[in-house]
Parts: sequence; structure tokens; C-alpha cells
Amino acid sequence: MSKYSKTIAGCMSWGQWGKKLSTPKMVDLIHFCIENSITTFDHADIYGDYTTEAEFGKALKESHIVRENIQLISKCGIQYIGKSRSNKVKHYNYSKEYIVWSVEESLKNLQTEYLDLLLLHRPSPLMNPKEVSEAIQQLKNEGKIRDFGLSNFTPSQTELIKSKEEVLVNQIEVSLTQFSAMLDDSLQYMQLNKIQPMIWSPLGKYFKEKNDQNTRIKNELENLCKKYGVTESQLLLAWLYKHPVNMIPVIGTTNKDRIIESVKAQSIELELEDWFALLVASQGHKVP
Ligand SMILES: NC(=O)c1ccc[n+]([C@@H]2O[C@H](COP(=O)([O-])OP(=O)(O)OC[C@H]3O[C@@H](n4cnc5c(N)ncnc54)[C@H](OP(=O)(O)O)[C@@H]3O)[C@@H](O)[C@H]2O)c1
Repeated sequence: MSKYSKTIAGCMSWGQWGKKLSTPKMVDLIHFCIENSITTFDHADIYGDYTTEAEFGKALKESHIVRENIQLISKCGIQYIGKSRSNKVKHYNYSKEYIVWSVEESLKNLQTEYLDLLLLHRPSPLMNPKEVSEAIQQLKNEGKIRDFGLSNFTPSQTELIKSKEEVLVNQIEVSLTQFSAMLDDSLQYMQLNKIQPMIWSPLGKYFKEKNDQNTRIKNELENLCKKYGVTESQLLLAWLYKHPVNMIPVIGTTNKDRIIESVKAQSIELELEDWFALLVASQGHKVP
């Protein structure tokens, strides 16, 4: 039984980097997610140029939701160039001091005592597994994080961190338009090592760009939407659920109808040949 809901609400676009939701709208959306069995909320320190966690935290406090009934994920490590920090160049920082400080900032902003899950946001060429582990052990001992994982890490980068610290999750990009993890060893590695994949941008570029790949996918989806009686975005999610690794999609929509649709996609059983027909449409050629 996973600690996280089967669909996760991604909060990257809830604030300044997207919908700029007011506090009452955020309170309403948090309640709506929970009513629809989405209890896990995905954050990162940088979202909204380091502002979205605090906006969400304010809403969470006003919502009077019992903390134990939800799960909060956050990430650290990206030193982003924005209004609030004086970085000269975008970079990654995984020193012990920085990781601990960053988590403490996230806790203050989210107005919570602990994170259910902390992720290192992106791999850095300079990361030192021993130092990362010291930070994680300290945060766990102080009760500030419950679990630890990674994001955007390859299998060998994961092995490096895993040599010193237990890794429970890797949050990576997978979708019908960005399917490399389906064909390389990323997902098999997680399956073998019992690392839970969380999937960001699960709808890929399908709704974001007009190009030949999306036209081919659209043609295929048209028939399948009729066959299964579902929407395009539901089929894009069902395509991910077909993989035996048990992916948890992190969905970005703040639209209530689409949130409900996304949760319902869990029960769509895509037939084998339909799964491959979508892959073929996306890559533009048949499998070898
Ligand atoms: N770990 C990482 O490095 C990383 C990187 C990026 C993102 N993330 C996480 O992943 C989450 C999700 O990312 P994402 O927003 O790219 O995911 P997504 O769920 O693939 O895409 C959401 C976008 O698609 C639009 N959309 C959904 N259904 C649609 C439809 N039927 N028609 C038209 N547009 C539709 C949504 O618009 P509406 O809102 O208008 O519905 C929204 O803009 C983020 O919030 C963040 O938490 C993590």
C-alpha cells in the first residue's frame, strides 16, 4: 500500500508560475483534491520563484485540514535565478548546509512540521553521496522529513546516492510524447530496486504544442476515445498506467473537471495492441 495517493496534485502552476490562485481558491482546490482522493501534493522550493510553497502553506492553514490526512512532497537543490535570490548563474547545491537550510525554509513556508517526502530536484555533477546522506539523516532524526528520494536521476546517478542513503522515489518525466524511459532501462531499474516512480508532465507536450507527432497521436486517439468512451487526457494517463511498474502521475491541471477525469483514468484498461498503436503513432514508425 503506497503512502501516496494514486494521482498526485502538482502545485507548480497553482501560484505565480501559472494560475495565480488566490488563497480562497487554493483552499477550495485543496479540499476538492482530497474529496476526489488526491491527498498528495507535489511542491518544490523554486515554484513561483520561491513563492508558491508559502501561498499554499497559507491556504493549508486556512483549510483546517488535519496534517496527517495529506502528504506533502518538496524538492531542493536548484539555485534558480529570480527576484528573491542573488545567484549569478543557475546552478545546483547539494551541500549538507544548503539541503538542511532549504528544507527548513520549505517547512516554514508550507507551515508544517515535516515533509512526507523530500526529493533532490535534479542531479548535480558535484553531488557527494556522503554529504547528502548526512543531511538526510539529520533531517530524519529531527523529524523534518519522513522519506527521501530523487528527481530526474538516471539509474547510475541513483546508484551513487543509494550507496549511502535509502532512495524510495524517483520523480521523472514520462508521457506518450516523451517516452524514452519506456525504452531505456530507467523504469526497469526502479522496478528491480523497488523505487517508486512518480511521473511529471504525464500528458507531455500533447496539449502544449502543435507538431507532426501530436497530429499522429491525435488521429490515433480519435478512434480510441470513441472505443473506450473516455477523453484524450484520460487515454494519455491510461497509457502510463499500463506499465507494470505502477507509476504515480503528478498532474498539473487546476481544472476541476480535468482533475476528476484524471482520477477516473486509473480504471481504464488499455488493450495491448492499443498501447502499441499509440507508441507507434508517437514515434512515427513501427517497433522493430
Ligand atoms: N520533478 C521535476 O523536475 C518536475 C518538472 C516539471 C513538473 N513537475 C511536477 O509535475 C507537475 C505536473 O506537470 P505538468 O503541469 O507539466 O503536467 P501535465 O498534467 O502533463 O500538464 C498539465 C497542463 O496540461 C493542460 N491540460 C490538461 N488537460 C488538458 C486538456 N484536456 N486540454 C488542454 N489542456 C490540458 C493543463 O491545463 P489546465 O491547468 O488549464 O487544465 C496544464 O497546463 C507540476 O505541477 C510539478 O508538480 C516536476
